[in-house]
Amino acid sequence: MGRAHVITIASEKGGVGKTTLAVNLAIYLKALREELPVTIFSFDNHFSVDRMFRIGGAAPGGDVSHLFTTQPPGDLARLGEYGVHFIPSVGALDPVLLGVRGVENLAQGLAGSGLEGFIVIDTRPVLDIFTQNALFAADQVIIPVKDLPSLEPAADVYAFFDYYRLPRQRLRVLPSLIDLRIRYPGPLRNPFELLRAYAIKCGYRCFDGFISKSPKVESLNTNPQGKIYPLLIHGRGTEVHLQYASLARQVIRRAFPPDSGPASEKASPGPEEGADRTGPPSFRPPDSAG
Ligand SMILES: Nc1ncnc2c1ncn2[C@@H]1O[C@H](COP(=O)(O)OP(=O)(O)OP(=O)(O)O)[C@@H](O)[C@H]1O
Ligand SMILES: [Mg+2]
Repeated sequence: MGRAHVITIASEKGGVGKTTLAVNLAIYLKALREELPVTIFSFDNHFSVDRMFRIGGAAPGGDVSHLFTTQPPGDLARLGEYGVHFIPSVGALDPVLLGVRGVENLAQGLAGSGLEGFIVIDTRPVLDIFTQNALFAADQVIIPVKDLPSLEPAADVYAFFDYYRLPRQRLRVLPSLIDLRIRYPGPLRNPFELLRAYAIKCGYRCFDGFISKSPKVESLNTNPQGKIYPLLIHGRGTEVHLQYASLARQVIRRAFPPDSGPASEKASPGPEEGADRTGPPSFRPPDSAG
């Protein structure tokens, strides 16, 4: 097995379901491809990853901040619940203290990490240097979009990819938190059709289907136990379970395209891959970290 296939969940809009998606997707990927290791970590400071996956109390060892130091990322991952490995979260990440200046630091660290299978990265709702590193390292980026305001900043992710000449094929919009009880007159009958149509109009590619706004998911995330329960185990029989399973299958199909080698063989961005740009790149890299 070669190096890991990296899936980054990114949106500059808060509350679109990034973290929920990341933690649950990791479990579906593991369930569907048991033989492959799955490792998850988050640059967010909410500790959702730790609450979902940690077995027992906090143990000594590294956390995500060490991804940018000399410690090999492979040593940072620890086995968690549901057979998923995780790298512990940290309260605050300071790019200056960590000496993170470039966008390629994480990709370099992961490439030499010994991590295999899938890596799922949850990001903060800001295109800071950590999200940029997560985007640069990604083989696939999932951009959850719940309404038109959250579709707008997707342009920044596309601009980032254009600026660094990364292939846009790695990017996919995912309509999320969709409530099909909302109906519109006219050809775009509901929020899913509306968001999908707008995304396509902007030149973005979408996953097939969407993730519903589901009280089941909310109850699994917020409950008197203060735990996060996985949809795969506690949401069987729900529509959103089927949607997550379908999403995970699409992610796996993209990692293992038919007639290609293993997921781990990352195709370098060929000229034609990067060529389907629309609009001028508007992304400007920060002068310094931050
Ligand atoms: N499919 C869903 N159905 C209903 N509620 C959901 C769903 N997915 C996520 N939520 C809820 O929406 C809220 C935001 O979800 P989440 O924290 O995953 O978003 P986020 O994009 O990571 O937010 P942030 O940008 O602040 O990190 C949470 O209360 C979560 O429980
Ligand atoms: Mg989050």
